[in-house]
Order: sequence, then C-alpha cells, then structure tokens
Amino acid sequence: TVLVVDFGAQYAQLIARRVREARVYSEIVPSTMPVAEMLAKNPAAIILSGGPSSVYAEGAPRLDRAIFDAGVPVFGMCYGFQLMATALGGTVDDNGAREYGRTPLSVSKASSTLFEGTPTEQSVWMSHGDACSAAPEGFTVTASTDVVPVAAFENDEKKLYGVQYHPEVMHSTHGQQVLEHFLYRGAGIEPSWTTGNVIEEQVEAIRAQVGDKRAICGLSGGVDSAVAAALVQKAIGSQLTCVYVDHGLMRKGETEQVEKDFVAATGANLKVVDASERFLNALAGVSDPETKRKIIGREFIRVFEQAQLEILQEDGPEVAFLVQGTLYPDIVESGGGTGTANIKSHHNVGGLPDDIEFELVEPLRQLFKDEVRMVGAELGLPDEIVQRQPFPGPGLGIRIVGEVTKDRLDLLREADAIAREELTAAGLDREIWQCPVVLLADVRSVGVQGDGRTYGHPIVLRPVSSEDAMTADWTRMPYEVLARISTRITNEVADVNRVVLDVTSKPPGTIEWE
Ligand code: XMP
Repeated sequence: TVLVVDFGAQYAQLIARRVREARVYSEIVPSTMPVAEMLAKNPAAIILSGGPSSVYAEGAPRLDRAIFDAGVPVFGMCYGFQLMATALGGTVDDNGAREYGRTPLSVSKASSTLFEGTPTEQSVWMSHGDACSAAPEGFTVTASTDVVPVAAFENDEKKLYGVQYHPEVMHSTHGQQVLEHFLYRGAGIEPSWTTGNVIEEQVEAIRAQVGDKRAICGLSGGVDSAVAAALVQKAIGSQLTCVYVDHGLMRKGETEQVEKDFVAATGANLKVVDASERFLNALAGVSDPETKRKIIGREFIRVFEQAQLEILQEDGPEVAFLVQGTLYPDIVESGGGTGTANIKSHHNVGGLPDDIEFELVEPLRQLFKDEVRMVGAELGLPDEIVQRQPFPGPGLGIRIVGEVTKDRLDLLREADAIAREELTAAGLDREIWQCPVVLLADVRSVGVQGDGRTYGHPIVLRPVSSEDAMTADWTRMPYEVLARISTRITNEVADVNRVVLDVTSKPPGTIEWE
C-alpha cells in the first residue's frame, strides 16, 4: 500500500487515483493520523499531498519528522514538499514568490531518479505562495523555475523526494511519469495492482464476512449497485437475493436490461417487483415537483421493505446482510477514511420488525468510479450497464413537467429512446454527461403536419457536459445530430410537434427540469 497523506487539498483523491493508474494500491489518510499509526500499516511508500496553507500560517497542518526517519520512501508534493524542506533543515521563504497555473520547469539534473527520460524543459502546474530557496543537507536540487530556485529535490540514499508543483494534474505534462519514477525506481514497488486482484480479494473477504447466512441487495439499474451485486453474487451465489423495484418511471428497455442482461451475466436471484400501478395511483393529479419527489421516495421505500420482508420469511438461513454500492469518494468525503469496515446499519424502518439489523457489505468501498466500471466489465456485465450515464432515482416522473400519467410516460419513453439511440450512434455518449429528455405536458403549440394543423406538446433536449453534476454546461453538439433527433421525434412520436434545445448552464439551471 502507498499512503497518500491528505493535507486538506482537493488533490489527495486525484493523487490516489494516479497511483492506482500506475497499478499500485493506494489509500488516503488524514494528516492528523499519528505517524506511528501510518507506519503500522507497513506502507511501501508515503506521498504527502498539497494543501491550502502556507507552512508558516498559524494552525497550518504539521507532520512529525519521524516520518522521514523510518526508512519508508516519501514523496512530497507542493505543501508536502515545503513541509519536507522545513522539517529537514532546508529554507522556505515567505517572500511572495507566487506562481499559479501552468509554469515552465527547467530540469537541471536529467539523470535524477524522478526526471530521467523526461525533457529538460517541461510544463508543470504550480499553486503556491512560499518558495524553497535552499534544499536540506544531503539533497540534490533537480529542477527550478524562473521564480523558484528549488522546484524539486531528491535524496536517493534516504529515498526522500519532493516537487514544488502538482504532478497529479494533467497540465503537468510529465507528471504521471515522474510519479511512476518515484513508485518504481525510488520506492522499488512492482506495478501489480489490477481490478482482477480486487475481485479476488473482495470475493474472499465477502465469503469470510457473510459465512453461510444470506444477503439482499437493492438494484437501481445504476452502475454501482449492479457491480456491487455482481461481485457479491460471484462470492456467495444463491445466498444473495437482489430486489429491483419497477416503479414504471424507467426508460425504454431498462427494466428488461436488468431482468435479462444482469441475470444472464451474473446468474443472480432477482426479485422484480412490478409496482407501476401503485406509483401511478399515488402520483395521480400531482404536478408539483417536490410533492412528486416525496411521493416517489416514500412509495419506493414501502415497496422495497415489503419485498425484504417477503425474502426474510422465505425458508433458509438468516438474512443478515445488506449489500450497498458505496464508493471510495463517499467514504473519504464523509471523513470515514480507512479502517471503518464494520459499520452496522439499522434498517428497522417502517414495516420491518424492530429487532432486525443488517450488517452492510460494501465491496466497492476502496474503489473510484472508473475502477468500478472496470470491475463490472471484468465480471462480464454488458457495456449498457457498466457505462451507463447517471439517471435520477425518480426517473421519468421528474421529466414530465405536469401530471404523470401512463400515456405521457409512454410518449416520453419513445422520444427519449430516439434521442439516446441517435446520441449513441453519433458516438457522443462519453462527451455528454447525460441528456435528459423532458416532456412539457402542460404546454401546447400549433404545428402543421401533412395537410393538417396540429396542436401538440414540445420535447426538450437537455444535453450537458459536467465532471461531477455540481456544475454543468450545455453541450455544443453537432447540428446534424440535433436535426436527426428532432426530425425523428416529430415524425415518430404522436402528439409531439416541436423539439427545443435547452442552452442553459448549471447554475442557473439545474440539470433536471424538476
Ligand atoms: P440537478 O437536477 O440537481 O441534478 O442538477 C444533478 C444530478 O443528480 C441527478 N439527480 C438525481 N439522482 N435521485 C438521484 O439518484 C434524485 O432524486 C435525483 N435528482 C437529480 C441528475 O440526473 C443529475 O445527474
């Protein structure tokens, strides 16, 4: 394991991912963890991340210098680099020598462990106020910039390395190579971590945890729950039952995809609950978006709990486990870090007996989203599931502006299927984060089709580009593709006589219309 010590930068997760891209397993630990505890994990190497502080700021995070004396290879980046410099007797000046953004770096020692084989002039990403002016004793300075005399140093004997910039961001053109040089050459680690290892490890761990009891898993149709279920299925086979609630608000073919493709790929026991009538009844007469969301959420929990209860009553070993597709970013962001594997969760809400308590099985808790996709693919799940774009839990229920009825759902499903088909055919699925297709059910406009006047509804296309759905921009997609989608929808979907494009970023607009 390589430990990434997080000094409060948003970069720690990115560093951990880059280490894994180098096929070395990595974990993030908070900088407040005592060094003895870090060393007790027997790390093959330690990376000190960047951070928002100046090393001279009051309350800036510190690090016990024992970390540099333990014989474990250490790589300091940005703030981590400055901490290393000051701890070991170098000089960091608080002299306003700022650099932000893309900066030219001059490598002064091409034979260095970190820079070997990279150009003497390279572009790196800087973000700092203070600057190192003298390296600690025993260190060789290996690079500089116009502003910073010591932009990188290394001590091969002690296996200590540092760079002032951020090698983990893609704007640092040789950053990944420098990181790999540290891991392979500096720390002598073999690149052997693969998704295949993850599957093997997790299968063992799940078997040990579950024993001969039973587990249940809620499938939403999304990537995370599907991959978690497939992994648990591989480990414990028929001891797992998956529950899929069809609320009738899914897109065309989605329920069938779970019923057929997921089961075909995994052989899982799948309990599909068709609750579409129930949801439609509950939604009748409702157009307010928040009310719709609350109704859908409430009904979903009721149906899911009822299904759980039925499984609990079937003959067989105790149902003691609930599988969830929690990912590593969820764990890091909630401050969980590592070593919190045995959380107990009380799911005794609603119709379940008070004394039922499930233990969670979370086989993806070490993984990032792209790794989850790789694991899914390796487990044989089809691309349609593994590469799926985000889709909201309340489904098409919040993409019909107005009351949700069966006819309107059928209409929207057709329009959405056409848009998805054309976007896929145009190869735009990766470029576009997601493309909600929205029916303005309470709006009508006049059109002409054939020889007659029409009075139909508009369909809105909402293609967006995003990294995390917190902010988004509307996707500038090719006119030809828009034209094809528009022509097909107005020709093929009855009652739709107009297609409009949403050109609003987020903010101010949200991605969904409700
Ligand atoms: P908004 O509309 O808030 O959406 O910009 C941001 C992202 O979240 C998805 N979304 C949901 N996902 N349950 C979900 O699982 C929900 O209730 C929900 N509402 C919005 C939306 O599709 C987008 O990716």
